[in-house]
Amino acid sequence: MKFIFIGDVVGKGGREAVKQLVPELRREYNAQFVIVNGENSAGGNGLTGTCARELLHSCDVVTLGDHTWDQKGFELDIGRLDKVIRPANYNKTQPGNGWGIFTNPAGGSIAVIALQGKVFMKESAYCPFVTADEILAQLPGTVKTIVVDFHAEATSEKLAMANYLDGRVTAVLGTHTHVQTADARVLPGGTAAMTDVGMVGAEASILGRAIPDVLKKFASGMPCRLPVVETGTIRLDGAVVTFDHTTGRASAIESFARRIEL
Ligand SMILES: [Fe+2]
Ligand SMILES: [Fe+2]
Repeated sequence: MKFIFIGDVVGKGGREAVKQLVPELRREYNAQFVIVNGENSAGGNGLTGTCARELLHSCDVVTLGDHTWDQKGFELDIGRLDKVIRPANYNKTQPGNGWGIFTNPAGGSIAVIALQGKVFMKESAYCPFVTADEILAQLPGTVKTIVVDFHAEATSEKLAMANYLDGRVTAVLGTHTHVQTADARVLPGGTAAMTDVGMVGAEASILGRAIPDVLKKFASGMPCRLPVVETGTIRLDGAVVTFDHTTGRASAIESFARRIEL
């Protein structure tokens, strides 16, 4: 079996690219299940109930990251969105779920866990390694396929998590940097890993934002808002993982990038 994992969706253009390309990708790879990180889908910052439902037309689960609470009122919506997963290692009083078990239409179940890194991340979070252990201890033994979205900045922390969970989960896939890495591989224990799957955002941009705004921010060193989500050709980055649903082990991972003119 195969599942597809897609990186951070940025804004309306990103959502539209998902809508148009995911059905084609499902057919092309014969993938039965699609997970997408939606932390930047609402105007570049966070998620809303409407944007989540839009993504869930073509995808099975939406994961989140450090932008989880950027949209006002989303804390009220998330409780009604059982296919939306925010990082599990947030304060336990926060609304929403950090992991969930979902039915794979092709057979069996898939557990999806979202975790946020601690290195170079502004928001405080509990230890993602300890949290991963806690969640894995709670998962029923019948759930073999387990996918972790590790939303983190540092490649070292992401590689550490992949190796920490090798042999215990099906895949550890990185998000947050919006830049796809060239290191997709299956680790010795049967865990597919990739440091960052990339984004769904404008090709001529800096992480999905308008280049002039980002240049102004860096060149001046002054605090600067980045309100403009760039448009034009959208690049959709992701990875497809081949796995055995009876063992939960991955046998292959392949990264991909598609482009679409909107
Ligand atoms: Fe992001
Ligand atoms: Fe992020």
